[in-house]
Amino acid sequence: MNEQHPSAASGELVLGIESSCDETAAAVVQNAVRIRSNVVSSQVAIHRPYGGVVPELASRHHLQNIVPVVEQALSDAGLTLPELDGIAVTRGPGLVGALLVGVQLAKSLAYVHKLPLIGVNHLEGHLCAARLAPRPPTGPLQQAHGPPDRHLALLVSGGHTALLMVEQFGRYRLLGATRDDAAGEAFDKVAKLLSLGYPGGPIIEGLAEQGDPNAIRFPRALPRRDELDFSFSGLKTAVVNRVRRHGVPQGQEQADLCASFQQAVCDVLVRKTLAAARLQRAPAIVASGGVLANKAIRGALAAATTESNLELFVPPVALCTDNAAMIAAAGTLRLRANERSGLDLNAQARLPLGV
Ligand code: KG4
Ligand code: ZN
Repeated sequence: MNEQHPSAASGELVLGIESSCDETAAAVVQNAVRIRSNVVSSQVAIHRPYGGVVPELASRHHLQNIVPVVEQALSDAGLTLPELDGIAVTRGPGLVGALLVGVQLAKSLAYVHKLPLIGVNHLEGHLCAARLAPRPPTGPLQQAHGPPDRHLALLVSGGHTALLMVEQFGRYRLLGATRDDAAGEAFDKVAKLLSLGYPGGPIIEGLAEQGDPNAIRFPRALPRRDELDFSFSGLKTAVVNRVRRHGVPQGQEQADLCASFQQAVCDVLVRKTLAAARLQRAPAIVASGGVLANKAIRGALAAATTESNLELFVPPVALCTDNAAMIAAAGTLRLRANERSGLDLNAQARLPLGV
């Protein structure tokens, strides 16, 4: 990094760009922890009529929105491009056409302004969101300090459900992952089945608040204590079979079904996370990804970890779902390690963590 750089005194300023799915996002983060700006332009309303993300539409809307979103992030941060120390962009996993919009813009900006460029794994971004928790803490899930280098990570989003041992930043060991649907995907599919709309997570969460989580006993797959893989397709099928037998529920029955489904997902996530922490002797847990926006799941994880004397780091709700601040944070740590991407950086639909 250029030592004569005007921002050297104030710390590393990195612009993050995220366009892997249906959020067009840009953010400026300082020193990998302090959010200077965080702009998220959601396409949810565009995809809602289709009950899911339409890749073609996503790419088109990213193209329309990405430049204004980046301009807004810079203006909110009170910065111009030449004042930055680097640009971080999500390079995968995600929808390839959507990813390409962010990658191409990041490459152009890095080239024109001679800034270091780093392609970031979206999943690493989700894990780094826990480093962005406000200091001083503003809620029970935020600690006064960031997570320790070695910790267990629970990543639960629309495309992934996994438990990982993070030995240090960038060194990951996969302990378990879903064998079929991701937890977020299960929320979305159940919501679709009940004709509730898209995305399913927040809608089911809202309805579940009025329901009885013990009304229906849905299956909890792979119950063995040392089994760290997940499976949510059996749970989804149980909901399908119930709807076939009894019809699409309304009113209190609908709320009870949502609460019981959410409880089944929650139980499995909490139980396996605690088992993994015990097996790995991990003193701290980072939990992140869109599904961790769910208050019931956040609460259950907080209660269980407190009881087991484990430290828990969960980002604020707005940083659990897709955003670019987490990409900027991950990118800053990679740039610090002297990693750079070339102008041949490409988008990758599939990209395992640690690559
Ligand atoms: O991390 P994310 O924003 O995007 C991906 O990388 O996939 O996660 C989106 C997923 C969707 O499946 C959505 O239904 C789920 O997270 N989600 C929730 C909640 N908010 C979002 N699931 C349960 N409860 C929520 N409040
Ligand atoms: Zn995500």
